[in-house]
Amino acid sequence: MATTNGAVENGQPDRKAPALPRPVRNLEVQFTKTLETMDTGKPFLHAFFIDLEGCIKTLRYFAGWADKIQGRTIPTDDNVVCFTRHEPIGVCGAITPWNFPLLMLVWKLAPALCCGNTVVLKPAEQTPLTALYLGSLIKEVGFPPGVVNIVPGFGPTVGAAISSHPHINKIAFTGSTEVGKLVKEAASHSNLKRVTLELGGKNPCIVCADADLSLAVECAHQGVFFNQGQCCTAASRVFVEEQVYDEFVRRSVEYAKKRPVGDPFDVRTEQGPQIDQKQFDKILDLIESGKKEGAKLECGGSAMEDRGLFIKPTVFSEVTDTMRIAKEEIFGPVQPILKFKNIEEVIKRANSLEYGLTAAVFTKNLDKALKLASALESGTVWINCYNAIYAQAPFGGFKMSGNGRELGEYALAEYTEVKTVTIKLDDKDS
Ligand code: NAI
Ligand code: MG
Repeated sequence: MATTNGAVENGQPDRKAPALPRPVRNLEVQFTKTLETMDTGKPFLHAFFIDLEGCIKTLRYFAGWADKIQGRTIPTDDNVVCFTRHEPIGVCGAITPWNFPLLMLVWKLAPALCCGNTVVLKPAEQTPLTALYLGSLIKEVGFPPGVVNIVPGFGPTVGAAISSHPHINKIAFTGSTEVGKLVKEAASHSNLKRVTLELGGKNPCIVCADADLSLAVECAHQGVFFNQGQCCTAASRVFVEEQVYDEFVRRSVEYAKKRPVGDPFDVRTEQGPQIDQKQFDKILDLIESGKKEGAKLECGGSAMEDRGLFIKPTVFSEVTDTMRIAKEEIFGPVQPILKFKNIEEVIKRANSLEYGLTAAVFTKNLDKALKLASALESGTVWINCYNAIYAQAPFGGFKMSGNGRELGEYALAEYTEVKTVTIKLDDKDS
C-alpha cells in the first residue's frame, strides 16, 4: 500500500493494480519518471509510485498552506495590541542528494514557495535531470524570473557558494553528515543563515517476539533494500528478540534471495544498480568488513558477476554492536540482523549511536509499543509499519541525524521569520 506521500507502507508498491493509474498517461509525468530512472537507476515503477507521487502530494499539501501563513494576536499585561507576522525569510538555498533527487528538492521547494520565499537549488551532481526538467516546467507555467533558480554543479563549488553566500538567508541540506557540518560551518562563517539539515541514520528496527512475524519480515526487508538500500531511513540495524531470531533470519534470507535485481526499466525489477562507483566500492568494503569481523553471511555478499554496479541483496546474521556494519551508514542492499534479550537492553543499544533519524517497532503489545515510542531517540518511530512518510507529518532527526523538520506544518516555521509588532494604545480615556 502506498502512503499519501508515495512511500511504501508494509511492503512494496501495489503491484496488483490492474492498470497504471491515470497520471501515467500524462506525458509529462511519464517523462519525469523516465528521467529519474535514467539518472538514478531506481526501478521505473518506484520512480512513479513513490518519488513522483510523493512530489505531487507534497506540492498539493503546501499549496494549501499558501494563503494560511498567519500570525497570532497576543494578550499582554500592558495596554498594547501585540501581534505576530510570519514573514518570508527571503532567498533560501537548497542542496539535495542523489537518492531521491526530485522528492528531496520538492520537500524544500514547496514550503519555501508557499511561505513567499525565493529559492536557489543545487541538485546532486549525479542526478541533475529532473531538477532541470522541473525548471523548464516552472518557466512554462510563468513563475516570475528569479523566484526559482536551479544551479547544477559540484558540492565544493556551487554547494559551498550557496552555503557561504551573504545574501542567502536560509539553507536546507540533505546528504552526508560530513557535508552537513561543512554547510553549518559555512553558514556560521558567512551570515549565520538559518540551517536545516537531514543527514541520514543507522535506524534501529526492533522486532519483538510477539510481533506479526510475516509483517515484520516484509517491512524490515523493504525497509532496508528499498531504493537499492540508498535511504536515510534504511532499516540498517534490525534487532530481533531471541525467541524468534532464527525464524526471522530464515525468512529474511528467503526474501532477499528472491529480490529481483536487474534492468530498472523492467517492471518486475525491485533493485537496480547503485548510484556510482564510489558508493558501490563503499558498500563492498563494508560487506568485507562484516565478513572479517565475524558476522555470518547468510546470502549475497558480493557484486553481481556479470554486470556493472549491481550488488547482490546481502543478509548478515550474528551481527554485534561493535561491528562496522552495525555502526556505519551502509547506504546499500545489506541487512545486518542483531539479537536482543529484553526491552531495556534493546532501548539502550538502539540509542547508543549518534544518529537518530527513524526507528521502527514490531509488536502486538500496546504498552511495549508506547514505551519504545517514547524511549527511542529518533525523529520518527514507526509502529508495525515502515517508511510511512506523509506530506502532513514532520520528518527530521534527533542528534546528529539533523536539525529542523521538513514536511507538515512544522516545516513552515523553517521558512518564515516571526516578527512581533507591538502597538501602544493611548492610556487616557477618550
Ligand atoms: P554528499 O553529502 O557529498 O552529497 C549531498 C549533496 O551535497 C550533493 O548535492 C553534493 O553536491 C553536495 N555537496 C558536497 N560537498 C559539498 C560542500 N562542500 N558544500 C556544499 N554542498 C556540498 O553525499 P555523497 O558523497 O554523495 O554520499 C556520501 C554518503 O552520504 C552516502 O554514502 C550516505 O551515507 C550519505 N548520504 C545521505 C543521504 C541522505 O538522504 N541523508 C543522501 C546522500 C548521501
Ligand atoms: Mg560527498
